[in-house]
Amino acid sequence: MKAEGVFLVALVGLVSGQRPQVTLPDLGTMEGYFGESFISNRSFYHFKGIPFAKPPIGNLRFQPPQPVEPWTGILDAHSNIGNECPQSFSVLNWQGALQSRADDDDLNKAKEPEDCLYIQVYSPNIDPTANLPVVVFIHGGAFFSGSSRIYGGNKFMDHDVVLVVPHYRLGPLGFLSLQTDEIPGNAGMLDQVEALKWIQKYISFFGGNPNQVTVMGESAGAVSASLLNVSPLSTNLFQQYITQSGTALASWGIDPDPVTAAIDVAFRANCTNSEITALTQCLMTVEPSELNAAYMEYLTAETRQGRSGIGGSAPVVQKAGSVRFLEKSPHEIFASGDYNGKPAIFGANKHEGTQPYFFLHTFYLAPRNLTEDVEFLSRGVTRLFLNFHGVGTDQGDTLAIATENTYYGVNNMGNLTLLWPGIIDFSSNMQIKGPTFGNAEFNIAKGAPTYLYSFHFDGSRSLYPITAPFSPIPGGVCHGNEMILQFSIPTFGTNTEDEVVSNQLLTLWANFITYGDPTPVSSPVEGIPTWPRLESRDGSYLVINSTSSILQDYTRVEYFVSINENFPNNIMN
Ligand SMILES: *[C@@H]1O[C@H](CO)[C@@H](O)[C@H](O)[C@H]1NC(C)=O
Ligand SMILES: *[C@@H]1O[C@H](CO)[C@@H](O)[C@H](O)[C@H]1NC(C)=O
Ligand SMILES: *[C@@H]1O[C@H](CO)[C@@H](O)[C@H](O)[C@H]1NC(C)=O
Ligand SMILES: *[C@@H]1O[C@H](CO)[C@@H](O)[C@H](O)[C@H]1NC(C)=O
Ligand SMILES: *[C@@H]1O[C@H](CO)[C@@H](O)[C@H](O)[C@H]1NC(C)=O
Repeated sequence: MKAEGVFLVALVGLVSGQRPQVTLPDLGTMEGYFGESFISNRSFYHFKGIPFAKPPIGNLRFQPPQPVEPWTGILDAHSNIGNECPQSFSVLNWQGALQSRADDDDLNKAKEPEDCLYIQVYSPNIDPTANLPVVVFIHGGAFFSGSSRIYGGNKFMDHDVVLVVPHYRLGPLGFLSLQTDEIPGNAGMLDQVEALKWIQKYISFFGGNPNQVTVMGESAGAVSASLLNVSPLSTNLFQQYITQSGTALASWGIDPDPVTAAIDVAFRANCTNSEITALTQCLMTVEPSELNAAYMEYLTAETRQGRSGIGGSAPVVQKAGSVRFLEKSPHEIFASGDYNGKPAIFGANKHEGTQPYFFLHTFYLAPRNLTEDVEFLSRGVTRLFLNFHGVGTDQGDTLAIATENTYYGVNNMGNLTLLWPGIIDFSSNMQIKGPTFGNAEFNIAKGAPTYLYSFHFDGSRSLYPITAPFSPIPGGVCHGNEMILQFSIPTFGTNTEDEVVSNQLLTLWANFITYGDPTPVSSPVEGIPTWPRLESRDGSYLVINSTSSILQDYTRVEYFVSINENFPNNIMN
């Protein structure tokens, strides 16, 4: 297969020494390199560190991105990977933890450059007439962490698709909002929009078809994909989307009170001015590392109060700014019907709730000595998790009582060992599965092809020891674990069984990206049954495991997995 790569390069006459070149009109020429795909070992083109917007520095901090400017000479798109966006590192930041193992040199830089709007492109064929379908991966990391470096694309490169992985501004630099024109919020979302515009203009020079673009995201990236679909600024820049473990309907997807959070974060960054012009001036000039440290402090304090801490670092409903990504809440937009239905895959992992459980156990229950407090565990714990998942008021404990009856089991109240499997289910649904199914239903209402999956494969490696260090409970098939199979994550290898499921996942996704159908008759996936569209509330969905199957009635079957399936009841594992 390597011979094919060389042949293509010779054909389009772009080879310079051993490295492929691409020239973008009005911008310049770049030099990438050849990679080798995961299973078939075929050669592909890889361009890293391509700037897709003007560096958002100086007066452009907090502002919408500006179009990229041309460069002189040949851009190094092989050794220069492009700065990751400034972010803080802590135990709450698993992506950072992963990266620090992989990339120590970069991390040890004293200052984090805000010049971080870079994109990576992977392509099996850069002939401008190749017209390959394009997939844009929006990474996760709770809107405050992550970068394209963590998600190596050599698994996608076993397939004839062009993969694009953009950076977007993170944390307060990407999302802080005072609801003023100077600090309007959503800068990070507008970076994603700018990346999609760049793709429209330039992806054909990498062999991609700008009219066949799928946006795929995981976690905060999945919320992003769903938001990009409801924003009038971006919905026409792509044709299909995939959300893995998150949608715009998630309670953590939108910051409900951004100004309060912004002022709190600003205060911790020593921007204590009560007058708005001075406060803005301070925020415009504070070091990124200090602003991110302040956000981490805020996040830690919020978590210790039993709250999610998304404030100051998540998308907002904008009330100011020259460019407005979102002017109504996603709930309002969906309810009004003013959104596009598109071919889409929605899905979640079986035990999403183990992640939020870890947070509240570690940062709330344990420090307050509540894990054996029978009185607290009789009702307070129910209120705690309701509040964490964004349920503000609960008149007469109506929802608490319903939650206990439905999920926790009234006879289990008072005993955390008996309670936590139900808490996992409840949290899975509140945080991820409910919003996932909700977005799927709205897509069906538009008559758009809709595919739903539940990921159940417990592979040889898990992110849980990093996302939930010293967790008192096992992670199960936790948030993010499918990433290990879809991308090449530094230090996360795969065994033979993982590779079978990995190949199935990639083939399903490549089929969807290419045909709008994950299991078309023309391209069956070995070991996977035909995956029918979800047509109704009790319709069909795909369970992805070492043996995959089609089941019916997602909310009935998947909303109560840990109780039904005897989630391992081993507190100390
Ligand atoms: C790919 O390369 C690996 C390692 O060199 C080898 O074991 C494997 O058989 C190759 N696969 C194919 C399909 O050529
Ligand atoms: C704020 O100022 C205090 C006192 O000067 C200093 O110790 C602290 O590191 C500063 N915090 C940040 C986030 O810069
Ligand atoms: C924690 O609670 C247990 C049981 O209620 C009690 O025996 C113990 O003294 C408490 N520990 C602390 C540090 O408060
Ligand atoms: C809680 O339930 C577990 C499992 O049934 C049991 O072993 C334990 O003794 C119970 N704890 C209390 C304090 O009753
Ligand atoms: C996945 O399949 C394995 C092997 O058949 C099985 O043991 C496991 O319970 C399944 N996982 C889930 C979550 O259904």
